[in-house]
Amino acid sequence: MPAVVIVGAQWGDEGKGKATDLLGSRVDYVVKFNGGNNAGHTVVIRNPDGTAETYALHLLPSGILSPGCVPVIGNGVVVDLSVLFEEIDGLEARGIDTSRLVVSANAHVIADYNRTLDKVTERFLGSRKIGTTGRGIGPTYADKMNRLGIRIQDLFDEKILRAKVEGALELKNQILTKVYNRRAVEVDEIVEELLSYTERLRPMVADTSLLLHDALREDKTVLLEAGQATLLDVDHGTYPFVTSSSATSAGACTGSGIPPTEITRVIGIVKAYATRVGEGPFPTELFDEDGERLRVNGHEFGTTTGRPRRCGWYDAPVARYAARINGVTDFVLTKLDVLTGWDRIPVCVAYDVDGERVEEMPTTQTGFHHAKPIYEYFEGWSEDISGAREFADLPKSAQTYVEALEQMSGSRISTIGVGPGREQTIVVHDLL
Ligand code: GDP
Ligand code: IMO
Ligand code: MG
Repeated sequence: MPAVVIVGAQWGDEGKGKATDLLGSRVDYVVKFNGGNNAGHTVVIRNPDGTAETYALHLLPSGILSPGCVPVIGNGVVVDLSVLFEEIDGLEARGIDTSRLVVSANAHVIADYNRTLDKVTERFLGSRKIGTTGRGIGPTYADKMNRLGIRIQDLFDEKILRAKVEGALELKNQILTKVYNRRAVEVDEIVEELLSYTERLRPMVADTSLLLHDALREDKTVLLEAGQATLLDVDHGTYPFVTSSSATSAGACTGSGIPPTEITRVIGIVKAYATRVGEGPFPTELFDEDGERLRVNGHEFGTTTGRPRRCGWYDAPVARYAARINGVTDFVLTKLDVLTGWDRIPVCVAYDVDGERVEEMPTTQTGFHHAKPIYEYFEGWSEDISGAREFADLPKSAQTYVEALEQMSGSRISTIGVGPGREQTIVVHDLL
C-alpha cells in the first residue's frame, strides 16, 4: 500500500509535472493536494513517430495524462471551476480521456471576488507586493481559514450556497468598495455562475479521503503531487513571499485525508540550478549573463503567467532544508542538461550572513535577506548529455557534480533529468 509524495525542493518549477508523469503509468491514483491553478506543469510526451506532444497543466493532476490512473483533486486544493472545465475540454479535444477525474467534496472554490481581491491587493501593496499569479489563491485560502469559504459540496445545496455567498460578500463588499474603491459584487451574479457548473461537476464529486483509504487497503499505489514548493510553503517557506498553502510533504496528509502513517516515500524534485518567480529573497540569484544563459537554455519562462523566471546557481542549504522539512527519501535532479557548456559551475555550500558563515537556512527573515552565497566551484562539461540514459553515460565532470550535490543535499539522488521528454531520464534507484 505505497503512498508516495512528490514535492518541490526549491521555489517551484523544478519539473514536478514530468516526474509525476514519469510514474503515472505505474501508479493507480495521482492526487493534487494543495494549491490551484497557480501551478503550471509542462509535460512533454514523445509520440511513436518521434514528434512530441506538449501539455501545460494547471489545475488537473499530471496523472491525467496516464491512461488507467485515477486523477484526484483533494480537499486541500482551491478550485477555479471555469479553469477546471476549460482544462478538461482542452485535453478532451486532444484525445485525452478525463472521465476518471474525481474531485473532493471538501475542496474550496475560487469565487470571482477572490480573483479580483488578489489583483487589487497586489496593486495596493505596491513595492511590498508578493508577485502572486493573480489567480485568487491567497484570498480563497484566507476565506477557508476565516470560515467564510465556499466548498464544492455547497454547490449541491442552493440554499446553503446562497447563504454562504451572502455571508462572504457582506464583508468582501465592504472591502471592495471602501478600501479598494471597486464596485460591489451581487450575490446573484456569484451564485448563478457557481450553479452553472453543478450538473457537470456532480458525477466527479466524491469523498476522496475514503476513496484513497479504500485504495490503500486494496494495495493500490497512490502518488500525492504537490504544487509549488518547500520555499513557497506558507509555514516553511520564505514568508511572506510564499503561496498560501502547505506545499510540503505534511500538506499531502491534510490536503488528501491520508494519515502520515501511510506515507512510504517522499520524493523531492530539485533543479540542477535554481529559479524563482515573483518577489522574495533568492541568495544565489544572478543578474549577469550567466543568469540570462540559464533562463534561455532552460526555457525559464513561467508556464502560468509567462513571466521570466529569476535564475541562479544551486543552493545546497536550501536543498538540505527541503530534505529535512519534507523527510525526502529520494531526490530527482532535473535539468542537468541545461548546465552543459559552462567551464566551471558554482554551487552555494553555505551563506555569509553579516560576516558569519552559516551552513543551514538562516533562522530569521532578516538573516535570509542578508545571506550571501559562499560558492564552491565544480568543473563543467561540454558534451551533449541529452541522450544519456545511464549514469555512466555522463561525462566524468557531470558525474562529479551530481555526486557532490548528493553529498551536500541530505538525501540520495535517485533520478536525473537530461531533457524535458519522458525518456530523457537516468534512473539510478527506482522511485517506486
Ligand atoms: P513544475 O511546475 O515543477 O511541474 O515544473 P514546470 O513544468 O513549471 O517547469 C519545468 C520545465 O522544465 C518544463 O518545461 C519541463 O518540460 C522542463 N523539464 C523538466 N525536466 C527537465 C530536464 O531534465 N531537462 C530539461 N531541459 N527540461 C526539463
Ligand atoms: P508550480 O506548481 C513557481 C509563486 C508566485 C508568487 C507566490 C504567491 O508550477 O511549481 P500565489 O498566486 O500562489 O498566491 O503566488 O508564489 N508561485 C509559484 N512559483 N511555481 C509555482 O507553481 C508557483 N505557484 C505560485 O509567483 O511569488
Ligand atoms: Mg511550474
